[in-house]
Amino acid sequence: MLPLAACSGETREKQVRGGDAKVGKALVTQYQCGACHKIPDVRGADGKSGPQLDGFGKLSYIANGIPNQPDRLVAWLLDPPAMKPGTAMPAMSLTEQEARHMAAYLYTLRSRPK
Ligand code: HEC
Repeated sequence: MLPLAACSGETREKQVRGGDAKVGKALVTQYQCGACHKIPDVRGADGKSGPQLDGFGKLSYIANGIPNQPDRLVAWLLDPPAMKPGTAMPAMSLTEQEARHMAAYLYTLRSRPK
């Protein structure tokens, strides 16, 4: 039987296979995602051309239309235009492993302050 916590879909933190949130945070800093995104506790991440990423872990959709699931998020990070033609977020030549770490980090962002 599954543990009860597994039933609480909405509030459960999503798991990314092979992703390490701590490494992901360092990568998000290194790749300067913050040039376009406001990201909590990433120094200097105060960009305005993309949506703020605080609370991202609670969103139902990535970029307003892609179901927010770990594998889709990894695919999004690897190649946004392939997932949403015409999007303003560019592909940044990440490896899949890097994208997995970043996805794990993004799912820890679960509070959206006003
Ligand atoms: C050149 C600016 C730019 C850079 C650099 C950039 N993004 Fe984005 N990002 C965007 C834009 C614009 C969107 C909105 C896309 C859309 O809705 O079509 C977006 C959307 C997203 C989303 C979905 C957010 C939501 O609320 O749905 C995530 C997650 C994301 N970016 C993560 C990252 C990460 C991680 C990096 C670094 C590897 C990064 N972005 C680098 C511009 C950028």
